[in-house]
Amino acid sequence: MNLDLFAHPDFHPSWREDICPGAVVLRGAALADERELLKAINRIAIKAPFQYRATPGGYAMSVAMTNCGELGWVTDRQGYRYQTTSPETRKQWPPMPDIFRTLAIHAAKEAGFDNFLPDACLINRYQPGAKMSLHQDKDEDDFGQPIVSISLGLPAVFQFGGLERSDPTLRVNLTHGDIVVWGGPARLRYHGILPLKVGEHPLTGQYRFNLTFRKAH
Ligand code: SIN
Ligand code: FE2
Repeated sequence: MNLDLFAHPDFHPSWREDICPGAVVLRGAALADERELLKAINRIAIKAPFQYRATPGGYAMSVAMTNCGELGWVTDRQGYRYQTTSPETRKQWPPMPDIFRTLAIHAAKEAGFDNFLPDACLINRYQPGAKMSLHQDKDEDDFGQPIVSISLGLPAVFQFGGLERSDPTLRVNLTHGDIVVWGGPARLRYHGILPLKVGEHPLTGQYRFNLTFRKAH
């Protein structure tokens, strides 16, 4: 792919922190695009509103979700899956904004994954108390492609574990503008988000947003 198409002069992570082989935090890497990213989230949420979905076991998730891109991740009693349309609107997910795709591709490259071609972007919205239990991202076809995860708004504690649910977890504080990339030997590591603390962020108020980019199919 010609990366010039995705030139991004503002892509300057302030520093990188390796979590483990295959996983890195690019601190502040989304800061230059913060307003554009948040505006785009709002536009997407008008077309495909945030939903509290149910797990296959029937529990309501505390994180509200929507998607953009060719494919969107959904869950209900039938299971976890990717699909091209929103279950509520029955329309295709809104397209992935260029700024999303560009940033995700640059972050993946910075982390050592040169050929990332995301076709799915899950948008998670956390309010105080919302959490994401430890899980693996394994609904994708090709585990050779990494995960790129952008944090915006209120800070959160990211748990990063091993390949077994019972493995010990590291705790990584993620703040506004941080990007985490994991792939290769880290691709199937368990991870999650501890319950969000109450706070007020100048750009997002009482919310944390997370954009998770994947190549699903
Ligand atoms: C996820 O694992 O899908 C979400 C991670 C996050 O919110 O940072
Ligand atoms: Fe995940």
